[in-house]
Amino acid sequence: MYLLAFETSCDDTSIAIFCDGKLIAMKTRSQIREHNETKWVVPEVAARLHANNIFGVLEEVLWEAKISLREIDVIACTQSPGLMPSLLVGMSVAKTLAKTLSKPYLAIDHIEAHMFANYIGRETSDIPFPSVCLTVSGGHNELYLWKSMFEREKIGETLDDSAGEAFDKVAKMMGLEYPGGPIIGKLAGEYAGEFRGIFPKVLLDKNSHDFSFSGLKSAVKREVDKRMMNSPSLNENDIREIAFEFEQTVVNILSHKLFHAAEMHNISSLVLAGWVSANDRLRETIEQLAKEKKYHFLAPISKIYSQDNAAMVGILAHHRYMKSS
Ligand code: KG4
Ligand code: ZN
Repeated sequence: MYLLAFETSCDDTSIAIFCDGKLIAMKTRSQIREHNETKWVVPEVAARLHANNIFGVLEEVLWEAKISLREIDVIACTQSPGLMPSLLVGMSVAKTLAKTLSKPYLAIDHIEAHMFANYIGRETSDIPFPSVCLTVSGGHNELYLWKSMFEREKIGETLDDSAGEAFDKVAKMMGLEYPGGPIIGKLAGEYAGEFRGIFPKVLLDKNSHDFSFSGLKSAVKREVDKRMMNSPSLNENDIREIAFEFEQTVVNILSHKLFHAAEMHNISSLVLAGWVSANDRLRETIEQLAKEKKYHFLAPISKIYSQDNAAMVGILAHHRYMKSS
């Protein structure tokens, strides 16, 4: 059975093909270069780029899988959440194909797909339930109690910005490129000093599973402005130090919330999802703590599956389709 999966929720045009539950081809066209000008994704610009790219990506992925459209049995596409103009491009193409080829169509939830990215390259038994899953990216930042494959309960979310958004905005404040996460991670790794905790670790209520990053973002802005008072730009050491202090504070908040939720609910595993989960410091910190506290820890097997990609849409669609047929 061939399954064709589309993901266009933000700024990646990604299409994947699965054969009997195995990923056999994926092509992704990123729009990072185009969005670097504004340092932010303008929805209408993203949608226009998806529309320009989607048929080229489709041709490439079919060529890589060495199959034709007529051989596809099931079609799936991300439906929400995401940037509406971007989502509509993928959905229109996917639904039109499903209609003209008379094939079943599956609408996929983007966050659930990020969680299912953890099944790529693994057996279904590799995620022991119940689990706590931290889904953290540019557009979302939640904690889920993942009770069984298709049963999840949202137990926490951000009250303002997501961690990824905070990375992007802090990068913009310091004149760095978009997306902010990877470049801040790199610069933070180059800082040689000790962590001083110059930014607030906002945890909200003691037992709350919610997040807030707007206070942290404002504190970084004040620090950047203070350091720029007597010079037109930040020097390299200032940029590295702010990147390091900011990143470590985000990592401290995210890991505190994840382990607090794990302790409050009697869980068997900890799972990371979303592109911020590709952050090395976050992964290493959680992996180390999980080892000490004896939790089974999982993150996508490759960073490709942490960021927006159609393979996560396809793997979720595959499991949903198998369950319903
Ligand atoms: O999952 P994703 O591709 O899109 C959404 O669904 O929103 O996440 C994009 C976000 C961006 O905000 C980007 O700065 C962040 O993930 N990001 C990172 C890293 N790589 C990407 N944040 C921290 N560290 C990273 N290494
Ligand atoms: Zn995403």
